[in-house]
Amino acid sequence: MHPESASAPATFSRCFSVAPMMDWTDHHCRYFLRQLSQHALLYTEMVTTGALLHGDTQRFLHYNDTEHPVALQLGGSNPADLAACARLAEQAGYDEVNLNVGCPSDRVQNNMIGACLMAHPALVAECVKAMRDAVSIPVTVKHRIGIDGRDSYEELADFVGQVSEAGCQSFTVHARIAILSGLSPKENREVPPLRYDIAAQLKEDFPELEWILNGGIKTLEACRQHLETFDGVMLGREAYHNPYLLAEVDGQLFGSQLAPVTRHAAMLVMRPYIERHMAAGGQMHHVTRHMLGLAQGFPGARRFRQLLSADIHKSDQPLTIFDQAAELLVGR
Ligand SMILES: Cc1cc2nc3c(=O)[nH]c(=O)nc-3n(C[C@H](O)[C@H](O)[C@H](O)COP(=O)(O)O)c2cc1C
Repeated sequence: MHPESASAPATFSRCFSVAPMMDWTDHHCRYFLRQLSQHALLYTEMVTTGALLHGDTQRFLHYNDTEHPVALQLGGSNPADLAACARLAEQAGYDEVNLNVGCPSDRVQNNMIGACLMAHPALVAECVKAMRDAVSIPVTVKHRIGIDGRDSYEELADFVGQVSEAGCQSFTVHARIAILSGLSPKENREVPPLRYDIAAQLKEDFPELEWILNGGIKTLEACRQHLETFDGVMLGREAYHNPYLLAEVDGQLFGSQLAPVTRHAAMLVMRPYIERHMAAGGQMHHVTRHMLGLAQGFPGARRFRQLLSADIHKSDQPLTIFDQAAELLVGR
C-alpha cells in the first residue's frame, strides 16, 4: 500500500481498460503501462480472498500511487470474505473492486472461484451485495457469456439480472463461453468462438447497466468501433504484447490534447524506477520482462528483446544494457 494512496481520482472512466492478467499485470507492469496512458483503467492480477486475508496482505495490496485509476480484482465466493477483502481494497485506495467470474482454471474451480460461478447466480449476487454493503467504491463483475452446460442466453440474462439487482452496475463481459471440462485456461481464451453479438444483446436488454467488452480486441480502430455499441473496451494480451498501443489511447479515446509519450521517453522514465527497485534488492528483469513488447514493429525489436530479456542476466552492469536498449528507441 502506498502512503499517499488516498489521492485516488474523484472520477474515472472505463472507456478503455487493461485486463487483469495473472503473472502479467503486477505493479511493475502497471507502473510501466501508466507511463504510456494516463487514463486507461488498470486491473491487478486476480488475488484470492484466502491469499489476501491469510497471506502477505500488504504485498498483495501494494501499488504505486501513479497507477490510478487502478482496480483490484478478487477471486472468491464467500460473501463475508469478499466483503472483508473489498474493505481492504478500499482502505488501500483502490478505485474499484472487481469480482472474477471468468477464470476457467481447474485450480480455482475446485475452490469455487472464477467462471464456475456463472452456474450460481444467486451466490454471485450475495457476494456482490456483501461487497457493496462493505464499501463505497464501485463493485464490478467480470464474467463470460456462459460455461459448458449452461450457455443459453436465458441463463446469461438471468445471471446478469440477479447480479445487477444485488447492486452491480458495471459488467465486463469476455465474449466467449468458458469450457470448464477439458480445455486449459489458454485454450479457453482461444477456442470458444468470440460472440460480440451476444454481448451486444446484453447491452440492448440491460441498457441501464455499463457494458465493457473484452476478448480478441487488437487495435484502436476496433476499440472505436466497439465503443459505438459498448460503454468501454478491455484489452488483455494485445495491451501486454504491444504496450505502445496505450500511448494513443488518451488522444484517440479520452480526448486528451497531449502528444503521446515516445517509446524512448517511456524508457527514460522507467530507468530511475528500475534503479530504485534494484536498490531495494529487486532484479531488473522483474520490471523489464513487462517491457519487451515496447519496440514491437521496429527493425531493432529483436535486439531490444534480447538485450532486456537475456543480456541483462549476463552482465554485472544491467543498467548499461538497459541504456543500450533505450538507445535503439531514440526518435521513436
Ligand atoms: C496470462 C493471462 C492471465 C490472465 N489472468 C486473468 C485473471 O487473473 N483474471 C481475469 O479475470 N482474467 C484473466 N485473464 C483473462 C484476461 O483478463 C482476458 O479476459 C482475456 O485474455 C481475453 O482478453 P484479450 O483477448 O484482450 O486478451 C488472463 C489472461 C492471460 C493471457
